[in-house]
Amino acid sequence: MKSRIVFAGGSGFIGNALTKLFSLRDYEVFILTRKIRERGDGVREIGWDGKHLGEWIQVLDGAEAVINLAGKSINCPHTPANLQQIVSSRVDSVNAIAAAIEQVKTPPHVWVQASAVGFYGDTKDKLCDEAAPNGNDSLAKICREWEAAFTVAKVPKTRKVILRIGFVLGRDGGALPVLSRLTKLFLGGSVGTGRQFISWIHLADLVQMFLTAVEKENLSGTFNAVGPKPVTNVEFMRELRHALHRPWSPPAPEFTVKIGARLMGSEPSLALVSQRCEPKFFLQAGFRFQFPQLRGALENLNS
Ligand SMILES: NC(=O)c1ccc[n+]([C@@H]2O[C@H](COP(=O)([O-])OP(=O)(O)OC[C@H]3O[C@@H](n4cnc5c(N)ncnc54)[C@H](OP(=O)(O)O)[C@@H]3O)[C@@H](O)[C@H]2O)c1
Repeated sequence: MKSRIVFAGGSGFIGNALTKLFSLRDYEVFILTRKIRERGDGVREIGWDGKHLGEWIQVLDGAEAVINLAGKSINCPHTPANLQQIVSSRVDSVNAIAAAIEQVKTPPHVWVQASAVGFYGDTKDKLCDEAAPNGNDSLAKICREWEAAFTVAKVPKTRKVILRIGFVLGRDGGALPVLSRLTKLFLGGSVGTGRQFISWIHLADLVQMFLTAVEKENLSGTFNAVGPKPVTNVEFMRELRHALHRPWSPPAPEFTVKIGARLMGSEPSLALVSQRCEPKFFLQAGFRFQFPQLRGALENLNS
């Protein structure tokens, strides 16, 4: 019999890559979603509202793993109302999964919970491993509440792993396609001071980290899910221009980033904050990166 794996919020950017990978590895894949879609790839979607218990809990009974990716995108203006939805969509989904696991007869063996390196706040050029303290900006507080809900969940038969995810580079989602479009239009200059660090990771390496978290039975706790070589914004944009065969472009000062982000319905702090994180625990666990260098990652994604 196939092992069953359940993805909450598995219909998005990271979820798409993960459901493909686990289907190929012969798992029986389920997605918990607020909106069931037609699909022809064998992945099954089950309705939930991300908050309350319902019939969906049956799919967790006897599952090998549950992976929770659910949450409102942070790519929106960080108004008080949006921040409230960003946090509640995350905390509510964690609480719902915890309550479901408590109710089912055979709980999943492992629960992998998404978090973000935003946990550390704006760390300037300080290198953060998993022991670095929680920051104090809005996203750091949100990550604290998100992780706290997961940490207090009483699921003694289920191994628990948190992945603090960095800036994920993929073709079909996240911020890279937007940055690539701007760069192709000769708007690929650095932003703000350009000294802020970006803790990037290629999507292919991230999905292998999730696979490791599910399949390596002695793995538990909190892990930075980032590549081994964070770069400054200046270096990132230089490499992106190189990958897209574009010349030097003028830097965008902070006030233009603020105007541009507002026009694009986004949040300027996402481009201005500095996060310099290392995947210390994954490296200690012997994780091998397919794309340790930014140049190789960007060439792969633009090939
Ligand atoms: N992408 C990155 O670079 C990155 C970096 C750090 C952390 N992360 C974290 O990793 C997780 C997955 O990221 P992603 O890029 O795949 O995100 P995504 O594409 O936005 O997918 C997230 C999924 O969450 C569900 N969702 C959205 N709003 C929700 C709400 N209000 N209540 C319940 N569910 C909701 C949606 O599923 P349905 O519409 O089907 O319900 C959506 O497909 C997120 O929690 C994100 O914060 C991502």
